[in-house]
Amino acid sequence: MGLRRLIKNYIYRKKFNAPKNLIIKKIKNSNILITGANSGIGLELTKEFLNLNNSVLATYNESNDNLLKLKNDKLKICQCDQSVIENISKIKDFILNQPLNIIINNAGVWGGKNQSLENINYENFSQAINVNAVSILKLSEVVLKYSKKNSLNTILNISTLYSSTEHNTTGRNYVYKGTKNLMNSFSKNLSIDLKKDYNINVFSICPGSVETKLNPNGILNPNKVALSIINILESSNEELNGKFIDLNKNILPW
Ligand SMILES: NC(=O)c1ccc[n+]([C@@H]2O[C@H](COP(=O)([O-])OP(=O)(O)OC[C@H]3O[C@@H](n4cnc5c(N)ncnc54)[C@H](OP(=O)(O)O)[C@@H]3O)[C@@H](O)[C@H]2O)c1
Repeated sequence: MGLRRLIKNYIYRKKFNAPKNLIIKKIKNSNILITGANSGIGLELTKEFLNLNNSVLATYNESNDNLLKLKNDKLKICQCDQSVIENISKIKDFILNQPLNIIINNAGVWGGKNQSLENINYENFSQAINVNAVSILKLSEVVLKYSKKNSLNTILNISTLYSSTEHNTTGRNYVYKGTKNLMNSFSKNLSIDLKKDYNINVFSICPGSVETKLNPNGILNPNKVALSIINILESSNEELNGKFIDLNKNILPW
């Protein structure tokens, strides 16, 4: 890696990584549903929420090996391939009449290697629409219908600055940008409906460039990103309702 890149990455980490000795106090004894939790940001969120004595319902798609290693009584694990919307109903059995306070819609796919106009894989596209966007609607519906009434207070959608219409100067990546843009649109719409009907706060966050399976060249450490996200969830989610933010709580353009 060249010197310029190293300096750029160092500054990026300084700006977005969680500060050292971050003290997290408030989120304890909560019930949290995290999707796509066997790897990356979702796995680190699961670990840290469990460390804080919360109960986590973690969903996974292909493998649950990393979740099984956590060996924690407060962790429930549910297989759910979100590319098929009907699968979301499986979650009902894990939440029936149980309190569920926070949903983190973390599962996501990139949608294929080369996403120039000539190379779009339309099968990937329709699966990505479900995983990155439509499933968050179905999950909200299922949780509101079957979990304990009035327990849900926050829905956090893990989005990306790539999704922003206003910020788009690079083109391409039609599948990822388009499906995350749809997620943002649903996030905003849910923030209006669910606030009015159930007093639930819904917002989207861009975690930045994070080193994970989805982004092996990412800059930030997924554990530090998870801590920053938990820190944000501890602050007043009321003021974040309907917003799209980065890890420093700066408002991003839709
Ligand atoms: N890393 C970054 O730089 C970055 C930047 C902006 C936003 N994000 C967002 O952050 C979120 C987490 O991604 P990550 O970076 O932590 O990458 P990751 O480790 O690849 O996590 C994505 C998770 O989504 C799951 N998933 C994929 N297809 C699924 C399906 N059909 N049904 C259910 N779950 C499915 C994956 O499970 P399987 O592997 O089992 O399929 C995986 O556990 C994503 O929404 C991503 O778009 C990441």
